[in-house]
Amino acid sequence: MQTDRPSTKPLRAGVVGLGWAGEQHLKNYLRMPNVEVKAIAGLEVDRLGQLGEQYGVSSLHESWEDLVARDDLDIVSVATPNHLHAPVAIAAFESGKHVLCEKPLARTGAEAEGIVRAAREAGRVLQIAFTQRERGDVQALRRHVEEGNLGKIYHAKATWMRRDGIPGMGSWFTDKNMAGGGPLIDLGVHMIDMALFLMDEPEVEAVSCATYSELGPRGRGSRANDDDSTKTIVGDAYEVEDLATAFIRLSGGATLNLEAGWAAYRESSDDFGVTLYGTDGGAELKVRNYGTSDTVRIYTDVAGVPAVVAPEIGPREGHRGVVQRFIETIRSGEWADHHGEEGLRRTRVIDACYASALQNREVSLRELIREEAV
Ligand SMILES: NC(=O)c1ccc[n+]([C@@H]2O[C@H](COP(=O)([O-])OP(=O)(O)OC[C@H]3O[C@@H](n4cnc5c(N)ncnc54)[C@H](O)[C@@H]3O)[C@@H](O)[C@H]2O)c1
Repeated sequence: MQTDRPSTKPLRAGVVGLGWAGEQHLKNYLRMPNVEVKAIAGLEVDRLGQLGEQYGVSSLHESWEDLVARDDLDIVSVATPNHLHAPVAIAAFESGKHVLCEKPLARTGAEAEGIVRAAREAGRVLQIAFTQRERGDVQALRRHVEEGNLGKIYHAKATWMRRDGIPGMGSWFTDKNMAGGGPLIDLGVHMIDMALFLMDEPEVEAVSCATYSELGPRGRGSRANDDDSTKTIVGDAYEVEDLATAFIRLSGGATLNLEAGWAAYRESSDDFGVTLYGTDGGAELKVRNYGTSDTVRIYTDVAGVPAVVAPEIGPREGHRGVVQRFIETIRSGEWADHHGEEGLRRTRVIDACYASALQNREVSLRELIREEAV
């Protein structure tokens, strides 16, 4: 049920998933005043005990069902492999919890639609952990766009590329059924989110996408020191793409070039960025190896002469910002506009990309949604 009053009452959270993402949720809840983590769940018994002790959480569950069934939680965080986002989130809404779900919201638009419907029916908050948009540089660039300094943005580029960055070769990440896809759904979803956020949320009309799987199936492109104990090996087939590229048509005639790759013969780094071209200015965000300093350039004319501005922007941690926003939304009591629609829109763009790559043609989002309804 929707409240209409702000509240400062204590909030009790449970976190499902003990990997890097789950730990970020856990530790950032504990940084928030009046938020308690009551329970955590995951399959790794040793890690359950270790995280429980480190963060002072006494209720440890090996089954997510047991955690979600508890009646002493207000919040469930979903930081599991992608195929479990929908069942865990929907069960949490059915028992009246708010949900913070890791990106991507789900493997497909249809699955994401089910989660958003459950959030609306429960009248609870659903937020997706789009952590990269919470970075200090992205937020500063957004304010720059909001102030109108770039004029009308008519073209953008968004890219996230790694040399050897397949996360967990043989784990759920490279299993099509568990992950839903490769770098497009894993990294590309962040860049679609970042670009659309910076461009003031234009509607995505159509996409033309190609995917490649050249290095992964040959056993190349994996992180050398990928010893993360939570990434259980589930098979030896590499079933997803290792590189995706898309040309995306947006409402109002604007366009976006997207590139997302876990592995390619390029510089040995992990780089993402966005370029914006506007009628009154341009901007470039270039992040190398998750660095936070000297990442933004703004291009404009000053007194008729081309000028470059390099703003000094403080670092800001992604998950911290996400958790803070989520808790503030719950406390505000204004939940009606927070049922995860943005996450659903991102998932539909990814659906269209995979359909386009499969069919070797441009695919419009409208035709995809029509087909889904039939
Ligand atoms: N926002 C970000 O920056 C960011 C970064 C990394 C991962 N992620 C997302 O977080 C999610 C998890 O990624 P990860 O890298 O932490 O994965 P991971 O494989 O390291 O951890 C997954 C966790 O889920 C648990 N799990 C799996 N099946 C379960 C079940 N049936 N019941 C209970 N627990 C179960 C595992 O035991 C493990 O603890 C993914 O959706 C991923 O896309 C987001």
